[in-house]
Amino acid sequence: MKVKAFIPAVILLCFGVLLGLGTSRLLQITDEGKELRNYISWEDLRVVEDVETKRSSSIKVNNNNWLISNANANAKATNASRVIVVDKKGRGDSVTVQGAVDMVPDSNSQRVKIFILPGIYREKVIVPRTKPYISFIGNESYAAETVISWSDKASDRDSKGGELGTYRCASVTIESDFFCATAITFENTVTAEPGELGKQAAALRITGDKAMFYRVRVLGSQDTLNDATGSHYFYQCYIQGNVDFIFGNAKSLYQDCDIRSIAKRYGAIAAHHRSIENDDTGFSFVNCDISGSGKVFLGRAWGNFSRTVYSNCFIDDIIIPVGWNDWGDPDRQSKVLFGEYNCKGRGAERRGRVPWSKSFTQDEVKPFLGREFIYGDQWLRL
Ligand SMILES: *[C@@H]1O[C@H](CO)[C@@H](O)[C@H](O)[C@H]1NC(C)=O
Ligand SMILES: *[C@@H]1O[C@H](CO)[C@@H](O)[C@H](O)[C@H]1NC(C)=O
Ligand SMILES: *[C@@H]1O[C@H](CO)[C@@H](O)[C@H](O)[C@H]1NC(C)=O
Repeated sequence: MKVKAFIPAVILLCFGVLLGLGTSRLLQITDEGKELRNYISWEDLRVVEDVETKRSSSIKVNNNNWLISNANANAKATNASRVIVVDKKGRGDSVTVQGAVDMVPDSNSQRVKIFILPGIYREKVIVPRTKPYISFIGNESYAAETVISWSDKASDRDSKGGELGTYRCASVTIESDFFCATAITFENTVTAEPGELGKQAAALRITGDKAMFYRVRVLGSQDTLNDATGSHYFYQCYIQGNVDFIFGNAKSLYQDCDIRSIAKRYGAIAAHHRSIENDDTGFSFVNCDISGSGKVFLGRAWGNFSRTVYSNCFIDDIIIPVGWNDWGDPDRQSKVLFGEYNCKGRGAERRGRVPWSKSFTQDEVKPFLGREFIYGDQWLRL
């Protein structure tokens, strides 16, 4: 058994030395892989099973801190994806998530997997625009125990004394394209009640294009998930908050997600920010489970042309009967697209809904139902 474990370590050592000799080889691999990487596949959300047993030996020999997975080591080097291990106990490449992100070169053009071992990482993380193709991967058995947690709120000040505002308060910010994540919890620990000022506190902001989140958890209170810009796919995720807790102007599909309200009295789930009529953006919730506490609105018209659709969802008895809110501007009633299709549960009862919300027909709802809503055929291979 010891021999078995030893052989991969030797292979790894050789590769480590090869790569350690010069960055030119790394860059070559990178360049060759380039045009292959303009999509996200399940492979981008996985690390090999025994990454944990390998990491200690590889890290010692490899100055670049790239850990080459066994599967890739046996395959063509052009396909080698790289894994950086984050372990707060100090046995990985970095003790912080940001430390791992910092190891990725600017203009990176090949998938880099940041494997995060269980633990609470108390830090604010930014993946800059210049670093695409990054994966955050947790161990699927420990999604709830692998937490990136911070507690900035909108009224907090930056080092120069300026207010952070809602936009800059997120615990984790993803600015780059082709990001994906699985089995990670993104958290902001600030709690807010409706009407409290400056308590907006995002756990995650995503402004990069073409991102996938699979079985991640996003926990917060007011303004939990800033789904700001780009096309995004949230699949089997858990998203929690009370006021406008999914907001922004992205075009996103939330499929098979758990949407949990923690509102004590009232709040709102979605606040979509489409403000220009021909903006190709919107939130589509498909086959989601909507429950928790409240009463909450399904959506509020943050933008004049806000667009939010719920289809085939189970909606528990937590919805304010009118369902939708015009943000105090009746002009928006004729401009927004707010609607429901084939939802079940006591909260799905449409009898009390505002008349300017829509009950979709099967034909009308079609463009919102699948990954084609986010042009998935162009960037998802699942
Ligand atoms: C995930 O955790 C399980 C249970 O502790 C462990 O057996 C497995 O090797 C881990 N997976 C990875 C990729 O580290
Ligand atoms: C290399 O990558 C290509 C494109 O993703 C894939 O089709 C192929 O199966 C990979 N080869 C190996 C050996 O992993
Ligand atoms: C929204 O519409 C109102 C009038 O209906 C207009 O005054 C306002 O400028 C619009 N907002 C944006 C961001 O376009």
